[in-house]
Amino acid sequence: MVDTKELVGRYAANYVKDGMVVGLGTGSTAYWFVEEVGARIADGRLKQIVGVATSRRTAEQALKLGITIMDLDRVNHIDLVVDGADEVTRDFYGIKGGGGALLHEKIVAKNAKRSIWVVGEDKLVDTLGAFPLPVEVVQFGSWNLFRQLMAAGLEPSFRKVGSDSLYMTDSGNYIIDLKLGQIPYPHQLAHELKNTVGVVEHGLFLDVCDTFLVGRADGTILLYQKDQTEPMTIEVS
Ligand code: 5RP
Repeated sequence: MVDTKELVGRYAANYVKDGMVVGLGTGSTAYWFVEEVGARIADGRLKQIVGVATSRRTAEQALKLGITIMDLDRVNHIDLVVDGADEVTRDFYGIKGGGGALLHEKIVAKNAKRSIWVVGEDKLVDTLGAFPLPVEVVQFGSWNLFRQLMAAGLEPSFRKVGSDSLYMTDSGNYIIDLKLGQIPYPHQLAHELKNTVGVVEHGLFLDVCDTFLVGRADGTILLYQKDQTEPMTIEVS
């Protein structure tokens, strides 16, 4: 059986060329991208790239593979970032943050010239929102914020680790997931969340991605590019 995450994650390494500064995403699909970049460094197909990791987890993986990692503040540009997503629409809108790294992922993406998402076909949706929307919040006052979100009918729940502890992001914040079902007006919601005091960032990535690759169970990949009206089917040999 085809592992669509591995298929598409590894394929995305074709976008990486020598000399590039590359944003390395977080999650089980981006994992395969990082593995493939590491493999290409190991066998000499890539000689000189610098990675900017979107999480500690990814930085650890990359360093083990011999990928040079630099802090975002030490590079003056990022050529491209490859990352996963929890939901993607054909309008290039997405939800991210299922893996808890949305803040750093958004910062890296906003600093990158190109942002490429890699997803399995189950992530392609018509309307965002079936996947709970992650919202990163500062710890101070977070229960009050939680109650505020509850009163607004956004069905919040704190992200947990195990049954007791609250999940903490790499920046020391909490995540509140919003069970929305559907997000018919994503820009409006993004604006409202961004203007809520205590919210650091939300998982709506609306004007970030320009290309996404969808791995399919039949072993092909669909390539969606913003400048093209129809997706292209790629046969992976
Ligand atoms: C992490 C993310 C991930 O990219 C997203 O959750 C998709 O993960 P996966 O590839 O494991 O399904 O946003 O914060």
